[in-house]
Amino acid sequence: MCGLQSFPPCTGALPYLLNGFLLLLLQKEVLGCPAVCQLCTGRQVTCRNLGLSSIPRNFPKTAILVYLSGNNISHVIPNELTGLQKLSALYMDNSSISYVHPKAFVELPNLCYLHLDNNSIKHLDPGIFEGLSNLHYLYLQNNQIAFISRGLFSDLLSVRYLTLQRNRLSVLGSGTFMGMISLQTLNLANNKISRISDSAFYHLENLVYLFLEGNNLTLVPSNAIGRLKNLERLSLSHNPIRSIHRFAFKGLNKLRYLSLKSIKLKEISVNVFFGLNNLSHDFFVCICIILWL
Ligand SMILES: *[C@@H]1O[C@H](CO)[C@@H](O)[C@H](O)[C@H]1NC(C)=O
Ligand SMILES: *[C@@H]1O[C@H](CO)[C@@H](O)[C@H](O)[C@H]1NC(C)=O
Ligand SMILES: *[C@@H]1O[C@H](CO)[C@@H](O)[C@H](O)[C@H]1NC(C)=O
Ligand SMILES: *[C@@H]1O[C@H](CO)[C@@H](O)[C@H](O)[C@H]1NC(C)=O
Ligand SMILES: *[C@@H]1O[C@H](CO)[C@@H](O)[C@H](O)[C@H]1NC(C)=O
Repeated sequence: MCGLQSFPPCTGALPYLLNGFLLLLLQKEVLGCPAVCQLCTGRQVTCRNLGLSSIPRNFPKTAILVYLSGNNISHVIPNELTGLQKLSALYMDNSSISYVHPKAFVELPNLCYLHLDNNSIKHLDPGIFEGLSNLHYLYLQNNQIAFISRGLFSDLLSVRYLTLQRNRLSVLGSGTFMGMISLQTLNLANNKISRISDSAFYHLENLVYLFLEGNNLTLVPSNAIGRLKNLERLSLSHNPIRSIHRFAFKGLNKLRYLSLKSIKLKEISVNVFFGLNNLSHDFFVCICIILWL
């Protein structure tokens, strides 16, 4: 388990970190630490902004936190990160990664946080997340991902938080998030999404927050979102939505916040907000402004 709200995370990392400096002095040689890195305590390894072109070898087997942000790693290949049974958080953001091979993270059974944001990843191949059954947080924003194949995330049964904003997605096909039964927050803002399959959100019964602002939707994707029985917050702002049809939000019985700013509304049917009994007052203010414009 890695149920944690505060960071650093999973399974008691904090006491180990407090011992870090002692361990650094005593164990740097014994543990075998990558010589290029700034810090290596046995529990935490920091190799940040070094322009490294590959992942260093010989991390201590006890490592819980590994920072590799700000390097120049281009390809993440399998077996570079093997044997780190305790690794809980891996930072590989801002590292010019363009491709991650399938099975790259297969031997990291306790990984809870994976940061791959702010790279140049163009596509994600099937099998890429294999073995990450304990992952809770996956960060993929600020990449160039144009398509997600059906079942890509199906190994990620524990992920609660997935960020995909600022990529190049245009279509969400059937079963895009298949298997993600724990997902609570999904951020898809600022892509180019113009079509969402009716079954794109299949398995997301536990989703609470869905961000779709800044896309290219011309309609409310009612059939797709209608199955999100636990959704509390939905943003569709900054989409070219011209009309909202009757019962557009049907089934969203728990919705509390609906954001529809800067949509290009030309017409609105009666009964659009049928069933939305629990929205906050802010919402109604927002809708009035749109209708009077
Ligand atoms: C990103 O990485 C570069 C080095 O590759 C570094 O100079 C820059 O400060 C990093 N950006 C952030 C926000 O950490
Ligand atoms: C990053 O690596 C590429 C080769 O993969 C090289 O052409 C480029 O100069 C490197 N950039 C930096 C900032 O080291
Ligand atoms: C993202 O990466 C670019 C290029 O490496 C860097 O200049 C920028 O500061 C990074 N931004 C963040 C938020 O890490
Ligand atoms: C938005 O979607 C329409 C089709 O619905 C397409 O013709 C247009 O190129 C898209 N615009 C962007 C910026 O992707
Ligand atoms: C409305 O929200 C409250 C919490 O603010 C909740 O207790 C109640 O069950 C909700 N009603 C419906 C119909 O979902």
